[in-house]
Amino acid sequence: MRLPLMLLMVASSSAASEPAATPPMGWNSWNHFADKINDATVRAQADALVSSGLRDAGYVYVNVDDTWQGERDAAGNIQSNARFPDMKALADYVHGKGLKFGLYSSPGAKTCGGFQGSLGHETQDAETYAAWGVDYLKYDLCSFQDELWKAKTEHPNDSDASKNLLIAAYRKMGDALKATGRPILYSVCEYGVDQPWMWGPELGANLWRTTNDIHDSYERMTVIGFGQAGLSKYAGPGHWNDPDMLEIGNGGMNQQEYRTHISLWALLAAPLLAGNDLTRMNPETLALLGNREIIAIDQDEAGRQGDRVRAEGHIEMWARQLADGSTVIGLFNLSRQPQTVKFDFKEFGFEGRVKVRDIWANKNLGERSGKQSFGVWGHDVILLSIKP
Ligand code: GLA
Repeated sequence: MRLPLMLLMVASSSAASEPAATPPMGWNSWNHFADKINDATVRAQADALVSSGLRDAGYVYVNVDDTWQGERDAAGNIQSNARFPDMKALADYVHGKGLKFGLYSSPGAKTCGGFQGSLGHETQDAETYAAWGVDYLKYDLCSFQDELWKAKTEHPNDSDASKNLLIAAYRKMGDALKATGRPILYSVCEYGVDQPWMWGPELGANLWRTTNDIHDSYERMTVIGFGQAGLSKYAGPGHWNDPDMLEIGNGGMNQQEYRTHISLWALLAAPLLAGNDLTRMNPETLALLGNREIIAIDQDEAGRQGDRVRAEGHIEMWARQLADGSTVIGLFNLSRQPQTVKFDFKEFGFEGRVKVRDIWANKNLGERSGKQSFGVWGHDVILLSIKP
């Protein structure tokens, strides 16, 4: 049966406008500013997204994390605190730059920073966010862990009691956001403790954190990044694994280590949320965040997350298949010393000759086949694009 043309057009345009059809990209206040964030700083970051060219490269969300909340008014409406005099005006400013605006809350009574959470005010808060023009909500477990603990103690024989309560809490906000009628991307943050990849998609989550917090160190970043092995099957257009935000440019890693960070996140189809001060970005940081080939891998329309192919000694080999039939291979050296990485294209499913490109070297390596050997610097990565 042939579908009428109109119907086909509607179907394809709705797929394209689906929230998080590809992993969200933008900036978030937490990794660099934590609780030292205010209206003027957020505006300056929005300006820098535009002037640096990062907005046009795809970084469109400007997300205010924890510590924006004030007290509730007499009717229970959440208000922003003195550092954010007018949230609607801030959202308007961000939108005026061709960007989108995100906020943060918790299913608990308090956020992780001890500010007002949404417990008992879910619908009201979702309506406030929609009225302010919010496009993205990160919903962070925090003090709701106390409720889960209570459920465990009260129902010692029901092993699902706490998990069911957790899912219900995230469903409540998911439903409240949907009911506003405004498309608001929904980011579940429960640190991966109760396998959110199993229940996130069905309650409308567009991404879910798979781990505890990242820090600006090579050790922490690689523990999280390589710890994602095996999760690829749960990601796809509209719903993504989230190994936490980027630390690139915050100063705790060198250029090779930050290159490893963004290469791995792109192979993982991870959200690319810059976490640095964009107003003081050096050219090296901008070159990593803004690399169009890396962004294209992360944002590949097929939405197939990459996964581990082999881990041996100090070497991790990962691969991601792209929509155009090519495969991107990451050869990661976790040692501080240079290492030689040996592999055969067969390990990645390629028989015969393939076209090879070294992405970071920006160099086509011509046609190759069979056994290969590459030298990788300490804590560095070689990313190869392979085409049959
Ligand atoms: C948790 C989250 C972080 C950040 C802080 C804010 O630790 O995992 O990403 O949002 O809370 O308090």
